[in-house]
Amino acid sequence: MSHTKRVLTGIQSTGVPHLGNVLGAMLPAIEMSNRPGVEAYLFIADLHSLTTIRDTATLRNNTLAVAAAWLALGFDTNKNVLYRQSDVTLVTELTWYLNCMAPYPMLANAHSFKDRQNRLAEVNGGLFTYPVLMAADILLYDAHEVPVGKDQKQHLEITRDLAGAFNRAYGENTLVVPKSVINEQVKVVPGTDGQKMSKSYNNFLGIFAPEKELKKQVMGIITDSTPLEEPKDPDSCNVFKLYELVATQEQKASLRDRYQRGGLGYGHAKKELLELLLEQFREPRAAFDQYMTDTGMIEEKLAEGAAKARNTAKNTLNRVREALGFSV
Ligand code: ADP
Ligand code: TRP
Repeated sequence: MSHTKRVLTGIQSTGVPHLGNVLGAMLPAIEMSNRPGVEAYLFIADLHSLTTIRDTATLRNNTLAVAAAWLALGFDTNKNVLYRQSDVTLVTELTWYLNCMAPYPMLANAHSFKDRQNRLAEVNGGLFTYPVLMAADILLYDAHEVPVGKDQKQHLEITRDLAGAFNRAYGENTLVVPKSVINEQVKVVPGTDGQKMSKSYNNFLGIFAPEKELKKQVMGIITDSTPLEEPKDPDSCNVFKLYELVATQEQKASLRDRYQRGGLGYGHAKKELLELLLEQFREPRAAFDQYMTDTGMIEEKLAEGAAKARNTAKNTLNRVREALGFSV
């Protein structure tokens, strides 16, 4: 056992990450993965996405875009591991063992299923056992800590329960029982309409999108109708709220002052926001484009990650199979 703390988390492959994903989840995770003594396992949960996405090209493109975004933002794959869930098929074997430990009421109570309880015809077996695959994702890699948002808290409790039940039946210390790290105070990045930025509300800023598209989104930010020459309140303005999430102290103070003095139009403020975003994300945007035009580079990185992940997975599964009395 090394002294490295293994931190693991999964990201669904539902689209190209937007500014909310980047500021709220990805950059903090990268910061954490860079800390000494931490080894981060980060994977793209394409097997989970299969419960809802049926289109091969969509799933593949989403997966590549998510990987490209992590790489472009500087996730260090020498120190850490970036892989695609479906590349390590051993996870489905562990899922089966854990399925046999999962009582029906526990699964019926899970949010992933419960949220669709009134549309049962749309629920497939994969969706019903979604938390079991998630438990296998975590337990297969002996993760110590799993940082997730509040919405995943229940799934982590299920993971801990399943690991505990397995260990009681087949030997303590077979599986590492992980700690959940719920980040309660993640900053909520507002969307172009002032609600939480989300793919599902179509109010996002596609920070990796072509400049023209990003410009259109920025120009579409909803503002009030205060005339150009009048003073404006920066704190109730969607443009300023986004600006202050990326600007330096000086830039913030300067724009705040010009809002309050009057004579600054919202159109101008939007232009400044766009320029700031393009400037701050110049390198990641260029890197993202490069990865997406040469997806072989992404595949190479993912293959490297899969090899490392598979190695860890094999060790765990040998321990599990031995405990179950199966051949190793
Ligand atoms: P979306 O709402 O666009 O579908 P997801 O639910 O896939 O986004 O979120 C992926 C990650 O990004 C999660 O960790 C989530 O907490 C974070 N995230 C999403 N939207 C925001 C936001 N507006 N502000 C901060 N973090 C966000
Ligand atoms: N269910 C998680 C989500 O929707 C994604 C996920 C899959 C995950 N497996 C995981 C997160 C394992 C943490 C650990 O956000």
